Amino acid sequence: MIDYFEKYRDKIEEYRRQGHIVPSPDLVKNSEQIAKIKESAEINTAVLDHVAKHIKAGMSTQEIDDLVSTFTKQQGAICAPLHYEGYPKSVCTSINDEVCHGIPSRRIKLKDGDIINVDVSTIKDGFFSDASRMFEIGNVSKERHELVEITKECLRRGIEAAKPWGFVGDIGDAIASYAHSKGCSVVRELGGHGVGLEFHEDPFISHIGKKGTGMLLVPGMIFTIEPMINAGRANVVLDNLNGWTIYTADGKDSAQVEHMILITEDGNEILTR
Ligand code: MF3
Ligand code: CO
Repeated sequence: MIDYFEKYRDKIEEYRRQGHIVPSPDLVKNSEQIAKIKESAEINTAVLDHVAKHIKAGMSTQEIDDLVSTFTKQQGAICAPLHYEGYPKSVCTSINDEVCHGIPSRRIKLKDGDIINVDVSTIKDGFFSDASRMFEIGNVSKERHELVEITKECLRRGIEAAKPWGFVGDIGDAIASYAHSKGCSVVRELGGHGVGLEFHEDPFISHIGKKGTGMLLVPGMIFTIEPMINAGRANVVLDNLNGWTIYTADGKDSAQVEHMILITEDGNEILTR
């Protein structure tokens, strides 16, 4: 068993003395925990693949919830969203101007031209995983398709910026500078997060940031990067009726993709591919 916190204790302490924010021991996973979290992440990826195979125009978002719930149980795992802080469903389904936390419903049907984020989170043997993908339903407008492509590139650049002995702020810097160069905006209120032993752990991964700032990245850390990119303004509003769903304030489209990554000794590994 490799205990990465122990292995790098002196180096981490050196950064702390120089005034940097450093991870607490529980944020740096050991090799046994990493193996279990990877198992959870593999199931999570299989769930998303299952959704990808069946999603289509005319389907209700409740049917997506049913697909996710049934398939996850077949894998001997649990849907993390169900009853999480009172969340009523097993998955989040966010369409067009919904930024995140769209709640599945029999009344919401996918239409030709919609873009939808399906956000899946799994618990296997007590270990958590979390990832989301965008799906383009039928014939999607050029603008919507481009927003999805820009969002995927934001995630790719954010992942590329996540390196051992770098900082959390490097990730947001890479994401926001690309999004802004494409005329898009980045949601500030929600971000990525540590994950593995719990659904949401520290650090908060802002998708806007400044290079060289924020928590030090150490081998063994596992967190999500999940940029929410808006075609219009960055401002968002919360649905007062359901208390969950976040929309763009200006009603323009939003897209999101999410991966879970492990900081390794020479870079990072995507656990949800
Ligand atoms: N899966 C979301 C994330 O990426 C969290 C959803 S919380 C829920 O962090 F309760 F809405 F499921
Ligand atoms: Co997440």
